[in-house]
Amino acid sequence: MHIPVLTIDGPSGAGKGTVSRLAAKKLGWNYLDSGSIYRSLAIALQKTSVDFENVSEIVKVAQAMTLEFDCGDELIVKLDGEDITSQLGFESTGSIASQIAALPDVRRVLLQKQRDFRQAPGLVADGRDMGTVVFPDADNKVFLTASAAKRAERRYKQLMEKEIDANLAQITNEIDVRDRRDRERETAPLAMASDALYIDSSDMTIDAVIEEVLNLIR
Ligand code: DC
Repeated sequence: MHIPVLTIDGPSGAGKGTVSRLAAKKLGWNYLDSGSIYRSLAIALQKTSVDFENVSEIVKVAQAMTLEFDCGDELIVKLDGEDITSQLGFESTGSIASQIAALPDVRRVLLQKQRDFRQAPGLVADGRDMGTVVFPDADNKVFLTASAAKRAERRYKQLMEKEIDANLAQITNEIDVRDRRDRERETAPLAMASDALYIDSSDMTIDAVIEEVLNLIR
């Protein structure tokens, strides 16, 4: 049976998470926040003494970790049975995630964990390489972006809402470094699939973006 997939890729702070979650809810489909898988591995590594340069040990941790996702109104993630949801959003977690995500062996181990989310009646998948590598045969693909200033501002607001201490200038710099690394890595870089719809959400409301995304499926 064919299970439809909608992929939403783009840089951090473009609104992918919010748009993907709401689109999945409206469609009644499953939701994959692939960034949270890389972030979970970052947290798993912080609990060990493994050096971030030691690829074979990182791969072992990636293979051994068990993740449980509860994709209700808020995404809840358990790593080896422990609820790590509150640690996922830290920019420091995102930065480590981006560094280990550049390792081809790590990406290979995490590939199947992501593909396993393709369950009936459908899947909305959010990340950097959903339309290019993980689900190249997806039925619909979106590349969602926004200006650097807007993305930093949104990420800052998100952190404030979660009561995570943040500083706008620092966030602007951190997401710039992270996006550059994600774009420039050799394996599965952040890139728009040739068959994706390009949406610049800088001056759009979330509702307008969702409308455009759902129109693609209708
Ligand atoms: O989407 P996010 O900010 O939670 O992702 C955190 C990092 O994980 C991101 O900077 C790069 C990596 N990532 C990736 O390489 N590929 C994905 N599909 C999703 C995330």
